[in-house]
Amino acid sequence: MSNAIGKPTSRVDGRLKVTGRAVYTAEHHLANIAYAHLVLSSVSKGRLLALDTTAAAAAPGVITVMTHLNAPLMAATQVFDTTTETSGAESTSVPILQTDRVYWHGQPMAVVVAETLEQAQYAAGLVRAEYAEEPARVTLRGKEDQGFPPENILGAAAEIHRGDVDAALAASAARVDHEYSTPLEHHNAIEPHATTAFWDGDQLTVYDSSQYIFGVRQTLAEKFGLPLSHVRVLAPFVGGGFGGKGLAWPNVALCVAAARMVGRPVKLSLTRAQMFACTGYRSPTEQRVALGADSQGRLTALRHTGYSQTSTGNTFAEMFTFPARHLYACPNVRLEQKIVRLDVAAPTFMRGPGEAPGTFALESALDELAYELGIDPIELRARNEPERDPDSGRPFSSRHLTEAYRIGADMFGWSRRDPKPRSMSDGRWLVGWGVASAMYPYYRFPASARVKLLADGSAQVETGAQDMGMGTATVHTLIVADHLGLPLAKVRARLGDTDLPFAAIAAGSATTVSAGSAIESACLALKSQLLALARSGDGPLREVPDAEMELRDSGVYLKADSQHGEAYAALLARHRRECVEARADTQAGDEMKNFSMVSTGAQFCEVRVDPDLGEVRVSRFLGVFDGGRILSPKTARSQFLGGIVMGLGMALMEETVVDARNGRVVNPGLAEYLVPVHADVPAIEVHWLDKPDPQAPLGARGIGEIGITGVAAAVANAVYHATGRRIRDLPITPEKLL
Ligand code: MOS
Repeated sequence: MSNAIGKPTSRVDGRLKVTGRAVYTAEHHLANIAYAHLVLSSVSKGRLLALDTTAAAAAPGVITVMTHLNAPLMAATQVFDTTTETSGAESTSVPILQTDRVYWHGQPMAVVVAETLEQAQYAAGLVRAEYAEEPARVTLRGKEDQGFPPENILGAAAEIHRGDVDAALAASAARVDHEYSTPLEHHNAIEPHATTAFWDGDQLTVYDSSQYIFGVRQTLAEKFGLPLSHVRVLAPFVGGGFGGKGLAWPNVALCVAAARMVGRPVKLSLTRAQMFACTGYRSPTEQRVALGADSQGRLTALRHTGYSQTSTGNTFAEMFTFPARHLYACPNVRLEQKIVRLDVAAPTFMRGPGEAPGTFALESALDELAYELGIDPIELRARNEPERDPDSGRPFSSRHLTEAYRIGADMFGWSRRDPKPRSMSDGRWLVGWGVASAMYPYYRFPASARVKLLADGSAQVETGAQDMGMGTATVHTLIVADHLGLPLAKVRARLGDTDLPFAAIAAGSATTVSAGSAIESACLALKSQLLALARSGDGPLREVPDAEMELRDSGVYLKADSQHGEAYAALLARHRRECVEARADTQAGDEMKNFSMVSTGAQFCEVRVDPDLGEVRVSRFLGVFDGGRILSPKTARSQFLGGIVMGLGMALMEETVVDARNGRVVNPGLAEYLVPVHADVPAIEVHWLDKPDPQAPLGARGIGEIGITGVAAAVANAVYHATGRRIRDLPITPEKLL
C-alpha cells in the first residue's frame, strides 16, 4: 500500500493540459483532412420547399454540400435509454438529413465540406433554404392543456402518492403553496462539441468530444450498418461536458457521413452559437410546491408538481421531483410531474438534472415555511430528517445531513444571524444569509478495467471511461498506486478509447464508483497473480504463504520484514515476463436494491444586495457535503467548487432566451448568455465529512453533481433575508428585485 488515496494530489494529466500536449478532438491534424460546417434551419416546424446549394458548391475550396438529397443512408436508431444497460447514445429519433422535414429551429439541414474551415464556413452562408412553415409550439405556454405524465423517469415511478395531501394541507397549522420557475439553460462546456472521423474501407475511426464513447460507437454502428468491431471511438481528453456530451448529437453522425461521402478524413467542430441549437440543454421548469406542517414544524403534507418540456424526437422529464422523494419525512405526499412535447431541440441531462431545479423550488419552499412557523430553517430541516428513506422505506446506507448542517453552521457563524429580513447591512448594502439542502442520488453502472504490470515495474490501468476534467485519470491512478504499492509516477491511466475495456456513460456522478470498483477488482486479481509469482521459483519469497506477503515499495515484500522481498522489475525478469495483467468486469451492483443511497449537503450563502440597483453579489459561500469517502481531495474540491460556481450562475444569471414567435435562441453566446466570471465568484469554502459509505465500493458515492444542487435556493433564501423579497423565478436578476 502506498496510501495514495485520500492525499491531495494534483491531477496527473494537468501538466499535459497546461502545456498544450493533451490533444483534444478538434486538434487531430490528419493528412488530407477536410473541414465541415453545419447549416441550420431557420424555422421550428415545416418542410423544405427548396434548398439551393449552387452558390455554395461553386465557392472556393468546397468539396461537397451534403443535404437530405445526397447524404448516405443513416438508419434510425433507438434513443438513449437509461433503463437499459447497452443503450446507444442517440439523442433524437427524428431523421436528420434524411428527409425534408424540419422539427426544430436550429436543426442541421446541410453540411458543407471544404478544404479549409474558413471556406466551409463561408460557403455555408451561401446555402439558401425555402420552407413551408407550419405553426409550431416552442414554449411551455399553454402547458396545462398539453402536459402529460411520462411513463417513468429514469426507470422510477413518475408519480408518488402517499396519504391524503389535500386534507393534510387543509388541517396543517402552517402552510405555504407557491409556484417556482427555472429557465432553459445551456451547458456551455469550454471545448466545443467536435468530431474528427475517418474511414479505412469499412473500418471507421472517430474522435468525438464525448462523455459516452461506447454509446457513440453503438449508435454509429447501427446508423451505418457496421458491426461494433468496425467502429472505434476515442475521447482521451474532453474539455467539459456537464451532461451535454452524454449523447450523440446529430453533428457526430453527420461528420461520419461527410467523411464517407468525400472519402477523406473530416473534422466537424460546432460554433458556440450552434451549440445553443442542437446539442441539448436543460429544460425550463414550472414547478409548484405546497408544504403543510404542525405547530412544531413537523411536515404533514408535501406536494411537488409541475412541468418541463421535451421534443418530438425524445421523451425527457427533467426529474425535479426527485429531491422530495428522499429529503423529508412526511406522511402525506403527492409528487407529480408532466412533460409537454414541443417543436424544439431535444432537452437532455445537465449537471444535477432534476435535482438542481428541484432543490431550488423545494428548498425555497422550506425556507418560506420556516418563516411561517418562526423556526430556524436549519432546525426545521433537522426536525424533518427521515429515519429511513421516505419513498422506498429502505434504510439509508449512510446519511449525515444533520451533521453537515451542524458543522456548516459553526463554520459559517449561523448563530449570529438575526432571522428578520433586512436586519443586516454593510454600508449601503443589504446583507442576507440563507441555507438550503443539497442532494444527489448514488448511481453505479457496469464497468470493466484491465490493470497491467510491465517489465520495468510500472503499471497501466485501462478503461474506456471518459475524463471531462473531473479527475478520473487521477482517481484511477490513485487506486492502482494504492493497491500495487507504486508511486503515482509509476502508474499510467489510459482512458477514452473503445479498444479499452467497457465503461458506461460518464454521468450520474457515477464514474468513480463504477470504473473504480472494476479497477479495484482487477487490482485484487493482479495481486494474487503477483503473489503466486513471488512464491514460485527460487526468488526471495519462495514458498511464503500469501497472507504473509504484501504489495508495497514497488514490489512484493514480507509483512513482517520490510527489507525482505522482491521488486516488481526483478520479479518479472526472474519469470521472463513482459507483462502480468488482470481484467475485471463489474455489474451495476445490488446495493441500491437494499439501501437508499443518497448524498446530501448543506449550502450556506451570504449575499449583499444593492437596494437601489437590485444588484446581488454573493460575498461568502460554504458547502458541507456528505458524499461518502473522498478518494482524491484536490480534484474533489474542484468538483464541489465547480458545482457551486455553476449553481451561482443558475441563481443569478444563466438563462437561454427563446423567441416565442419562432423558436430562435436570442442569446446564443457567452456575451449574452452569462456565466459567472471571477469577479462573480467569492471565496468559496467546501468541506466534506469523508464518511465512507459501507455499501458503496471504495466507500465513495460520487460527487460530480451534488455541488450545484441547493445553491440557487441558498442564494434566493439569502436574498429574501437581505431584502424581504422572495424571488421564485430564476435567475434572480436586478429587474426582479426593483
Ligand atoms: Mo451528468 S448531467 O449526469 O453528466
